[in-house]
Amino acid sequence: MNVNPVVENFASAGKRGTMRRMQPVVVQHPLAQCHLAAIRAVSTPAHEFRRHINMLARMLFLEATRELPVQETSVQTPLTQTRGARLARPVVCVPILRAGLGLLDGILPLMPDAIVAHVGIKRNEETALPHAYYANLPTNLAAADVFLLDPMLATGGSACEAARQLKEAGALRITMICVVSCPEGLAAMAQTHPDVPIITAAIDDGLNDKCYIVPGLGDAGDRYFST
Ligand code: PRP
Ligand code: URA
Repeated sequence: MNVNPVVENFASAGKRGTMRRMQPVVVQHPLAQCHLAAIRAVSTPAHEFRRHINMLARMLFLEATRELPVQETSVQTPLTQTRGARLARPVVCVPILRAGLGLLDGILPLMPDAIVAHVGIKRNEETALPHAYYANLPTNLAAADVFLLDPMLATGGSACEAARQLKEAGALRITMICVVSCPEGLAAMAQTHPDVPIITAAIDDGLNDKCYIVPGLGDAGDRYFST
């Protein structure tokens, strides 16, 4: 199992150019960790849970997109011509339904022109095995930087299946963003999709006998959608 995290801190991130991206990156920015504590708390009401997970998703997305290539552009300011930048490739965000929508809500204000594709996967409550029930993927995945969004990486079954679907549809550059991960899910992804970097806010202790992450935050979809 190769789950040694790259412990990330925005203040030192600029020095990270030579680090390998295939190990999980744990975003330890103090504000990220405060948002995480708030969404873990069972006493946090749904409207606050939504706000905190939206903000945390935005911070994780900033880290996940840190090394996207840009093209130089020319910009006319009110005073003169200067250089600017635009992303070299399209960005496709892929929330795993349902709970991934909570990350998407936080990310889209930062990148309103991102393409959004959807993968629907639901764990079987008895077996914890993933059941894929929906997919709507664009045709230009090969040309894009693809960000797979799901707050929870538990057994890794859902993320592995989603990454498989994305690759089958042509995706070449996939990054997974998850709020809470654990050694079991990270190991599953490292074994099945070692080319997919993972950006997370936490690597928790592990799974309980119902395959929930401990300490975790409970059922992310139920908490986000108040069900
Ligand atoms: C949750 C979560 C992940 C999955 C993680 O979704 O949002 O998709 O479980 O578990 P795994 O790593 O063991 O596959 P769930 O299946 O409960 O569906 P929901 O988002 O519709 O509630
Ligand atoms: N799905 C969740 O929403 N939470 C967990 O802890 C595990 C899977």
